[in-house]
Amino acid sequence: KRLILVGPPGSGKGTQSPIIKDEYCLCHLATGDMLRAAVAAKTPLGIKAKEAMEKGELVSDDLVVGIIDDALKKPSCQKGFILDGFPRTVVQAQKLDDMLDKRGAKVDKVLNFAIDDAILEERITGRWIHPSSGRSYHTKFAPPKVPGVDDVTGEPLIQRKDDTATVLKSRLEAFHKQTEPVIDYYNKKGIVANLPAEKPPQEVTSEVKKALS
Ligand code: AP5
Ligand code: ZN
Repeated sequence: KRLILVGPPGSGKGTQSPIIKDEYCLCHLATGDMLRAAVAAKTPLGIKAKEAMEKGELVSDDLVVGIIDDALKKPSCQKGFILDGFPRTVVQAQKLDDMLDKRGAKVDKVLNFAIDDAILEERITGRWIHPSSGRSYHTKFAPPKVPGVDDVTGEPLIQRKDDTATVLKSRLEAFHKQTEPVIDYYNKKGIVANLPAEKPPQEVTSEVKKALS
């Protein structure tokens, strides 16, 4: 299966991804995680992306399209993939269609994490992540066994630089202006499944499974 997860910041894309990945043996490509790794490693890509990310704005289409084009060549992504956080503009969606056309493939399903903006600030400001795996926790909704420590590796958790109430406002603005048109783009193709993303994580998971069955 070739799946796309779309939704505003904090809607649960990163939380559901590992579950979907394990269930269907897909490769998981999260442009946000890849960009954060590039910023941390101070690669040329990371240096170019840093400023936009810290302001909560989108990184240029060319940079992210390049990352996805490379990643889709990996052997582990040939049978199927989950794209988390890409495409985020109509241009990115068109470029993805071109890349897949060349390989004789297409997007099977778009999971739209539909949720009211008002719920997102609490989710974003309470989030803690384990940077190397991308696992995320929440102080109230999904606390780690030991506060501040990853359950699996025992390594410390951190908060994302863009997870503040102020930067969230810009991220939401970018979502409504630039990413909502992407949902329309796929609606016209009839492949969007709308998920009730405000429900508890386990309920969202069963809705995901229903949408993919
Ligand atoms: P990215 O990393 O993609 O961030 P985002 O889209 O803002 O999404 P988040 O990761 O914040 O939300 P999520 O839906 O994954 O939430 P999560 O599951 O963790 O992008 C970051 C930046 O990179 C962008 O701003 C941009 O600059 C750049 N970028 C990335 N891709 C790009 C692209 N294609 N083009 C241009 N620029 C790009 O959940 C959040 C919290 O809520 C967690 O604490 C979790 O435990 C909790 N939670 C999750 N589900 C539930 C639930 N059902 N109930 C209660 N709590 C829940
Ligand atoms: Zn995420």
